[in-house]
Amino acid sequence: MPKFKVYVSSNEVPEKALEILRSIAEIKVNPKDGPPARETLLKEVADVDGLFCLLTERIDAELMDAAKRLRVAANMAVGYDNINVPEATKRGLIVTNTPGVLTETVADLAMGLILAVARRIVEADRYIRLGKWVIGWTPMMMVGSDVHGKTLGIYGLGRIGAALAQRAKGFGMRLIFNDVYRNAELEKKLGIEYVSFEELLKESDYLSVHVPLLPETRHSISAKQLALMKKSAFLVNTSRGPVIDEQALIKALQEKTIAGVALDVFEKEPMDTSSLLLRMDNVVIVPHIASASIETRTAMAVMAAQGIVSALKGKIPPNTINKEVKVKE
Ligand code: GLV
Repeated sequence: MPKFKVYVSSNEVPEKALEILRSIAEIKVNPKDGPPARETLLKEVADVDGLFCLLTERIDAELMDAAKRLRVAANMAVGYDNINVPEATKRGLIVTNTPGVLTETVADLAMGLILAVARRIVEADRYIRLGKWVIGWTPMMMVGSDVHGKTLGIYGLGRIGAALAQRAKGFGMRLIFNDVYRNAELEKKLGIEYVSFEELLKESDYLSVHVPLLPETRHSISAKQLALMKKSAFLVNTSRGPVIDEQALIKALQEKTIAGVALDVFEKEPMDTSSLLLRMDNVVIVPHIASASIETRTAMAVMAAQGIVSALKGKIPPNTINKEVKVKE
């Protein structure tokens, strides 16, 4: 009989990851589609040693108080703004995320979004489906903007930002970035130039967001920053919605102070169906799918499960966020 209990908050976690968990624990999987209700989650964590959770669950002090036996919370995501990490550390709770395994897949989508919004791919598809393509080829039908030869600004040159830079090089783009960290070797390898945040906003033809959501980055792209961007510039976000002030963004699009936007993430998810973003043709929107390839989502789930097993065996998993944690006995 396994001595541990693990709660898995989603019924979509691949079997391969569940098998890993079963090697050490009795598991309970949320039977419902979508995230568990808050009360359900608080109840389910009461007697578990491990929690396999998603970015849709808020792992805060209240939950930690309800989860007296909890030793590890594994977030099946690289971002962990849904988790109060200092509170976890205080309580001796190990928190893990899934860095590395999704880098290339997210960068693929970011590149895809740049191409989609620049060349109006989604809008053009809609155009045909709506029966609007009636005259055939015309010189100015659906003309978009070039990608090659343009400047790509990368806001946050971490793993994903760097993987996007690598791709953009292949597309013949000029590369600039801003970040609080610098890495001379990486900058040289990528042929990317460091600029101030203001210069990044002013010079980018395409600006792609790759910073994590932190108090310092929340709404760091708001009205003032959008006003600095070129009228012909496009903004792309595959990081977290609240990095961009969505109301200010809508206003900028309405007033045409930027040319368009491609978003994978939103301030509220799922997004409001009444959002004005849905009514604008120069907006490409996808439902938080940047890491959504079968290979990557499986790898993320396996990594999260392995972290739980390793933590329950008394180790500090390599993908632990709060490595300084003093694990509870
Ligand atoms: C997804 O958004 C993630 O953080 O992995």
